[in-house]
Amino acid sequence: VGADQVVTDAAVAASFAHDLTGRFSGRPLLVVRPAHTGEVSAVLRSCARAAVAVIPQGGHSGMAGGGTPRDGEVVLSLRRLQGIEPLDQTAQQITVGAGVTLEALQEHLRPFALALPVDHGARSAATIGGMAATNAGGALAFRHGMMRAHVRGLEVVLADGRVISRLSGLLKDNSGYDLTSLLIGSEGTLGVITRVRLGLERLLPRRATALLALPDIGQALEVLRLAHESVPSLQAIDFFELRGLRRVCAHLNLPAPFRRDHEVYLIVDCAARSDPSEELEVFVGVVEDALVATDLASRRRLWLYRDGQNETVNALGVPHKLDVAVPVSLLPRFLGELRVRVAEIAPAAELIVYGHLGDGNVHVNILGPPVEDVRVDVAVLELATALGGSISAEHGIGLAKRGWLPLARTETELALMRALKDAFDPAGLLNPDRILPDLDPG
Ligand code: MLT
Ligand code: ZN
Repeated sequence: VGADQVVTDAAVAASFAHDLTGRFSGRPLLVVRPAHTGEVSAVLRSCARAAVAVIPQGGHSGMAGGGTPRDGEVVLSLRRLQGIEPLDQTAQQITVGAGVTLEALQEHLRPFALALPVDHGARSAATIGGMAATNAGGALAFRHGMMRAHVRGLEVVLADGRVISRLSGLLKDNSGYDLTSLLIGSEGTLGVITRVRLGLERLLPRRATALLALPDIGQALEVLRLAHESVPSLQAIDFFELRGLRRVCAHLNLPAPFRRDHEVYLIVDCAARSDPSEELEVFVGVVEDALVATDLASRRRLWLYRDGQNETVNALGVPHKLDVAVPVSLLPRFLGELRVRVAEIAPAAELIVYGHLGDGNVHVNILGPPVEDVRVDVAVLELATALGGSISAEHGIGLAKRGWLPLARTETELALMRALKDAFDPAGLLNPDRILPDLDPG
């Protein structure tokens, strides 16, 4: 890769070694920055020969420690894989290098009125390869599905350097097991994604965003029901609470959006061929207050109250951060019981909750208890599981939740996962110890 693409200076390597939440860090052996698939393959062959662990890393915006090295591991940064290949307008697909950021792809596609229908607040850092490797979700997922729904093909380098390339973008291809699709959501444990072929959607030109103020989460579900019934232009419906709003306003120096406080807020995003704001009138009468914006700058201002939550939490301290999902109709029960459990375990803790209402995805952030005190983490994950939910909705397992995977998966499933890991990476050098828990010695 050239000597200048191998970073051994500890100070420089540190920027690849600390995650955003401050929960994970390590001292990598080195950071290596290949520029194309051939170099990735050569690096992996060298690492296999030297038997050193390799941590594939994209934009490093993950939340579960899946891309953060531990001491002595090699960081394989994919950010230099920046190729954007010619748009296939007939198939409405494009192939891009793993290191292209979501924002760069959005800008590239805008003149063609096309987009990848996956979006989230980390768009300027998150890379397409990382988003495929983690099956990224975000605010549009309840309408359009997660990353998996849009990947039409992958090029992958295996742990021993061999390359599998399936990039022709066929929608119909039942020629045996779909091996590369196993890489989606595998968090760098099965292989390294170097190129991604994506299915695209037409960008709808007219937009409207509403910030709705509500008395409680039960009323938010009524808004969701109404939205499903009468707002066909709905793309996203996220929620946050008064505590989070106050913290965001203070941190980002924003004015309060409404004259008085409300318990729950929804941000609703609509897109259509003609102005969708009329559809939003259906909410008059069910909300306590509302703001509607149709131009880009005002819409972005409204989204800041929601997208600023993560950054604000991280600025307040190292949070206990739990990305869970519960069946949407059980959200009021989940949030009610969550408050009670956290208050019992850590009465002085600050609970900041927000998320994606449409798919029941809740981001639970608990500030106060020391990081090593995991009682609140266990309580949140057990509560979500007891209600038929998931211990990881969109952030993955990484290092953060591997110990709790047995809460979510049966022994049979875990055994199959281990067998897959052994088949793809028999020496266990790719992102070791991420996702899969230690084998129960008994
Ligand atoms: C979000 O929805 O803001 C992101 O998933 C990150 C977070 O958990 O805060
Ligand atoms: Zn999210």
